[in-house]
Parts: sequence; C-alpha cells; structure tokens
Amino acid sequence: MATELDNDAVAKAYARWAPIYDLIFGAVFERGRKASIAAAERIGGRILEVGVGTGLSLPDYSGRDRLIGVDLSAPMLRKAKARAVVHQLTNLDGLAVMDAQQLGFQDSVFDVVVAQYVITTVPDPETTLDEFVRVLKPGGEIILVNHLGAESGLRAAFERWFAPLARRLGWRPEFRWERLTQWAAQHGGVRVIERRAMPPLGHFSLIRFGRLGPLTGEAVSSRVRATP
Ligand SMILES: C[S@@+](CC[C@H](N)C(=O)[O-])C[C@H]1O[C@@H](n2cnc3c(N)ncnc32)[C@H](O)[C@@H]1O
Repeated sequence: MATELDNDAVAKAYARWAPIYDLIFGAVFERGRKASIAAAERIGGRILEVGVGTGLSLPDYSGRDRLIGVDLSAPMLRKAKARAVVHQLTNLDGLAVMDAQQLGFQDSVFDVVVAQYVITTVPDPETTLDEFVRVLKPGGEIILVNHLGAESGLRAAFERWFAPLARRLGWRPEFRWERLTQWAAQHGGVRVIERRAMPPLGHFSLIRFGRLGPLTGEAVSSRVRATP
C-alpha cells in the first residue's frame, strides 16, 4: 500500500524538481496546458491558476483576462515570478505561496479555476476541489488537466506498483476518474461538463466541472465566449 502524500513531502519533492522542472516537463505537457488555457479563456474574467509551478503556462494566456497564480512550493514560484518579469505579464495580478486545500480567497470571486497536473499531487484532492468550488462564482468552471490512472490491465498494475516511489516524487499515478465523479456526485453543487483525452499517449485528460448556482442554463451559456 502506497503511503499518502502530505504537504511537507510535496514541498520537498517540488523543491527538488524546481531547477530541472521546465527541462523535463516543459514540452511534454504543453498541449494539455494550452488546451486548458483555451477552455479557461472561453469563460474569461478572473482566472485563478492553482499549482502554477514555474509559471510555464503564464505567457500562453492571451492577456485579456485577469490572472492570479498560487503554489505550495516557494522554489517553483520563484521561477514563475522571474518568468512573469521576463514576459512583462501585465494581466497577472499576483503570484503567492498558498495551499490549494485552504485557499486564502473569499467565496465566489473567480470565473475560472485552472489546475494543470496538480490534482493528483495534493494530499487531499476532494478538499482541494471543494475549495475550488467555494472560490468560484456560480456558472464558473473548474478546468483540470491531469494524468488519470488506468481502470485495469497492465498499465493499472504498473501504476499500483509504481505508486510508493511516485509518492516520493510528489505524484499519485493510480488516481482514477471515478474518484472525481464520486466527488462531484457527493458535492452536489457541480456538474461534469467534459472529459477529453490529452497527450502524451492519451493517458491524460482535460476535465471541466461547472459550478451550479442561481444562473439559468441560458445565462451560463451566455457567459461562455463564442469560439473565434
Ligand atoms: C506537476 S506540477 C505542475 C506545475 C504546473 N501547473 C505545470 O503545468 O507545469 C504540480 C504543482 O502543484 C503544486 N502543488 C502540490 N500540492 C499543492 C498544494 N497543496 N497547494 C498548492 N500547490 C500545490 C506543486 O508545488 C507543483 O508546483
């Protein structure tokens, strides 16, 4: 049985990753990052990116929406801050060290919460998702892009075998889609809008949840920008 993740272990793991993160994970995760940004910008407004890491995604936002990034890891965030300066990102309202499981924002203040390759690295994914919903306005969206564990077969067996070592790297490779759908059903204030396969190898998914609320169906769809 794999030991569980905790914030100290995750912070230590990402302090080790920070100097080499862009080299290893820059290109390989780029399609997922870009697809999640495109989905976020269809909603637009105030966007919170949780687990922003070294800020690889930041220059890819078009600049027409307001953006805030948070991350547990100070070494990862230092790189994001340097990137924001180099790219002169005037759409960025702040970068802060913050625990996704306890966001320091008021209720219902963001139009979109984006988390790229993050939800399987946090110690408590369900509490984290509850926090995402709390800070979202009704009609807003949570946009995740992440590896999801296989249901069965060789890949599932490998992911279970790899899980204890993966914890030391700050990952949870056996995390399955059912865990997200169960969370959504139990929460009751969100609906699954989309799950889309993403590279590499289709083992990753882009997932969209919509926060239910007082807005009607028409009002929600009118918040979504027309695709150019
Ligand atoms: C795999 S990296 C992804 C970074 C970035 N989103 C990207 O696409 O390159 C996971 C990030 O989640 C952050 N993270 C893990 N647990 C967190 C938590 N509880 N609160 C905030 N950030 C967290 C890590 O520090 C790390 O920067």
